[in-house]
Amino acid sequence: MAEGKYIDLGDRGKLSLRNKLNELTGKEWIKFSKSWFIHTPRARDKSGILHPAKFPESLVKEFIEFFTKRNQWVLDPFMGTGSALIAASEIGRNAVGIELSKKYFDITKRRIEENLSSGKTFPLHGSSEDLSLLLEKNNLKDIRFDYVITSPPYWNQLKRNYIRQKSRDEKGLDTIYSVDDKDIGNIDDYNEFIEKQARIFDKVFDVTKDKGYLTIITNNVYFEGRLYPLAFDTAISLTKRGEKSWTLKDEKIWLQNDKALIALGVNSAWVANRHHQYCLILRKEKKR
Ligand SMILES: C[S@@+](CC[C@H](N)C(=O)[O-])C[C@H]1O[C@@H](n2cnc3c(N)ncnc32)[C@H](O)[C@@H]1O
Repeated sequence: MAEGKYIDLGDRGKLSLRNKLNELTGKEWIKFSKSWFIHTPRARDKSGILHPAKFPESLVKEFIEFFTKRNQWVLDPFMGTGSALIAASEIGRNAVGIELSKKYFDITKRRIEENLSSGKTFPLHGSSEDLSLLLEKNNLKDIRFDYVITSPPYWNQLKRNYIRQKSRDEKGLDTIYSVDDKDIGNIDDYNEFIEKQARIFDKVFDVTKDKGYLTIITNNVYFEGRLYPLAFDTAISLTKRGEKSWTLKDEKIWLQNDKALIALGVNSAWVANRHHQYCLILRKEKKR
């Protein structure tokens, strides 16, 4: 290691002045590069953030810290109640989020107002199908995003996964995002869902910087006696979009060690307690 090319940050390790991607030390970089992680978020708070599929800010913060530097731009095209925007702004990144449901959009706005942080945040109300138009209307059309992190609806499973619905109902959580035609969680045909989702990521491709990364948090789903490989099909579909193809880099597996086991198929047939999710990592790269 040549003198002067590193800053010694004590216990955190050494920060290379030539680090192109983030502001992490080598030690922190290596730690994050493990292909799985266990993340146990704090219990859902009771302050009115009733989104049925919210991802924890602490989790999204770790991804944003790895894939960006301070003052860079982050996008979440399926914003929900704004976890990615809050996390980004807390660590000095700027963020834009798009959400179709007015209810979740309003919750995000309220959360942002209550959460004074350093990064600029722009929650936008509308469909990500109209991404460029929404950016233009809000004077954000010149932004090219350094990083995109998002969790789209898991196909139509919020309204179809009857077993989980009962417990969502009991917790006062929604069992449908919206009745809007543009809500991709309302598409019942699996292949149509995969295509519509990919079309939205074509739009995201247009506004992402060259070499910018995309993380999609999703899962395979077991429905009516068979597995639909939603996570795998999502990954594959985005690599087959012609000029707008993303390069698939990897997956990181989020192990959910804190979920209660429920009796599924006992004494009869194999049905798993699916206690992990996929964080797919893709990148916008020049075609070889
Ligand atoms: C899995 S949730 C995202 C949750 C979010 N990560 C959070 O932490 O709150 C997916 C979200 O996508 C929204 N959605 C569905 N179709 C959309 C579309 N075409 N454009 C924008 N948002 C959409 C749903 O309303 C839902 O809030």
